[in-house]
Amino acid sequence: MNSKDYIAEARGGTTRQAAKPKPQAQAQAAAAQPAAPAKAPEYKYIGKPTARVDGREIVTGRAKYTHDIKLRGMLIGKILRSPYAAAEIVSIDLAPALALPGVMAALKLAEGKVRYAGQQVAAVAAVDERTAEKALGLVKVEYKTLPSVVDWERARDAAAPQVRDDRPNVGKLNEYARGDVEKGFGEADVIIEHTYRTGFEVHNPTETHGSVAAWDSDHLTVYDSTQNIHGVRDGLARAMKVPAANITVIKNYMGGGFGSKLGANDYTVAAANLARQAGRPVKVLLSRRDNAVCVGYRPSSSQTYKIGAKKDGTLTALQLTNMASGGVGDGDDVAEPAVDIYRCPSCKVFEETVYTNTGASRAMRAPGHTQGAFGLEGAMDELAAALDMDPLELRRRNYSTKNLGDTGMPYSSKGLDKCYELGAKAIGWERRNRRPGEGGGTGPLRRGIGVATSIWFGAGVPGTLADIVLYPDGSVEVICGTQDIGCGTRTHMAVVAAETLGLEPKDITVKLGNSDYPWAPASGGSLTTPSVAPAIRDAALKAVERLKAVAAARLKIEAGDIVMADRKFASKSDPAKAAPFADVYRDLRRETVFHGERGAMPMDQFAFNTFGAHFAEVEVDVETGRIRVLKYAAAQDSGQIVSRLTAESQVVGGITQGLSAGIYEERVMDDATGNPVNPNLRDYKIATALDIPEITVLFADVFDPRINNLSVKGLGEPARVPSSAAIANAVYNAIGVHVREIPMTPKRVLEALKRKEAAS
Ligand code: MOS
Repeated sequence: MNSKDYIAEARGGTTRQAAKPKPQAQAQAAAAQPAAPAKAPEYKYIGKPTARVDGREIVTGRAKYTHDIKLRGMLIGKILRSPYAAAEIVSIDLAPALALPGVMAALKLAEGKVRYAGQQVAAVAAVDERTAEKALGLVKVEYKTLPSVVDWERARDAAAPQVRDDRPNVGKLNEYARGDVEKGFGEADVIIEHTYRTGFEVHNPTETHGSVAAWDSDHLTVYDSTQNIHGVRDGLARAMKVPAANITVIKNYMGGGFGSKLGANDYTVAAANLARQAGRPVKVLLSRRDNAVCVGYRPSSSQTYKIGAKKDGTLTALQLTNMASGGVGDGDDVAEPAVDIYRCPSCKVFEETVYTNTGASRAMRAPGHTQGAFGLEGAMDELAAALDMDPLELRRRNYSTKNLGDTGMPYSSKGLDKCYELGAKAIGWERRNRRPGEGGGTGPLRRGIGVATSIWFGAGVPGTLADIVLYPDGSVEVICGTQDIGCGTRTHMAVVAAETLGLEPKDITVKLGNSDYPWAPASGGSLTTPSVAPAIRDAALKAVERLKAVAAARLKIEAGDIVMADRKFASKSDPAKAAPFADVYRDLRRETVFHGERGAMPMDQFAFNTFGAHFAEVEVDVETGRIRVLKYAAAQDSGQIVSRLTAESQVVGGITQGLSAGIYEERVMDDATGNPVNPNLRDYKIATALDIPEITVLFADVFDPRINNLSVKGLGEPARVPSSAAIANAVYNAIGVHVREIPMTPKRVLEALKRKEAAS
């Protein structure tokens, strides 16, 4: 899935253009809206720390990941990839490979042009890994190489080779305007203008991509390392021309995806075709190197912000131009934070994308927002310095309660002010350098503190389904066709069911990760909890209603007189009349299924968003350019937290990923060949435990009953959005010059210091 489709899904199907206020609808809604309860009910498990229900499975190695799947007669499939960034395929000869003993199938996967190094060309399936590897070497491909361009800045030259036949190398990505920026800049006392750049960040999930395909007559079963079992099923149905009803996609456990596993992949289709040809199951696993060339990455950006403000910090105009690059695919639209977060009457955006001969980008954890937060929040800090203002005060001065910079619809809830307050207190905001770089320090070490803000979607998807099954022996199942991509979905499902049914999380049998189960959206877009939890709540409330009726019949009292507590149903008026759960479940006589659905939210009246504020403290060595993050506080408005331990893990993960991308991670391509220079975990540096500071995770616990029946908002992406930005702003506060480019490698830090020296 590309970022555009992904954002559309995350928004709940609307577009920014459609997200205009409808005054009449709003007035009606205000009148019709019952006075919302001011706070969440008291829960026993929801919002509390619950150990992962599958923790033991995972740490003992019993949990089955796609890589662990072994089927009887299973073959190993391998993909041959183009070594050239651009070439015409003259011929592919599979015969020598097929002649090798042990090779059971072979396919041609490309014809005409290949446009990047790493593109699929052919595939083989053999009885074991070595035979498959050997067979790949026997496939004869004749290429006619073509001129290519890999560097995105060179690709903009008129003389550069054209990457795509259907369009020039530079294309429009996004355009937006409100108010009158020229007038706004005219009214400003201070104007700043700077360019911020973000590099190519590879998803690198712990578990690399992979699929196992098996046919049973005309039914296809695919075990896939995916964030989207239903999406893979539908994609395979189209690609294989097989009815979706004849395809089952299974994923029990997964080691991360971060947006790189959102749909049916070309290698999955290859596995299914090889399996059909061979008449045996086929497993295709991608390598760490494949991860760097053919399954996406976060596109680069070069964002120029021009911001005007009055002396008191009131924004008058904000202009953003961005040049993004996503290889043969599109770069990301990074404008959302600039358009939405701060109250600003005039705003203008123009974004372009540059095509190059490298693999296509994919959605990566809060696509666009993560890059945009780095740029916008950096510019806000540089504006604060120009105004000689506290950066947090500048943000509060321009606080908006409506989307589109206070010109659109009211937010259904916005706890960002609370996040600022909680985070500032936790980090000790008053300890920061009053002006960037003014703190001094011991020897070459300088300390600083920075803040950054996030906005993201995360309201969940209406129509998500879940079933609760009650058995007469007292056991309970919750079934949902969602997937646990490593975040702890099983645990939150158990928590919601247990809470509602008056049981403990360990009493609930959780079933997920099978596309034959009731529909749920992709686990991306921070959609999972706010989609799935309300559907389970709905099903469980229906189950409780039935159980109460059954108990009432047994006790010969009115159902309205029944209360549920301590694993009993009892009469409110006569507590002596009580029936234990065991008796009431037995009275059901057969297993009974309750269907739940996540209802709709009033998208035409309110904007539904998540918010957060991250605070970082860093130490920078001005001699070596090395950055160390000392302390971190993250405050999130994700509504009601369902499972506190897994929620905290999400936030720690988001910070770790942002720290890593902010300081270390960058894919480097060989400009001449289009092959990656660092396609492994040794040369592509990812933060490890030693790099991670003390982290305080705080939740604003905003109650928003409009959003769904549990007041739940998403969290996965919000935790990532401002993390690189907060660290970059802390570095600015430490050394008095903004590095303006991530990753902030020692070289870039030293260059920034030189820039500062030259300016003084
Ligand atoms: Mo989403 S880009 O799948 O975190």
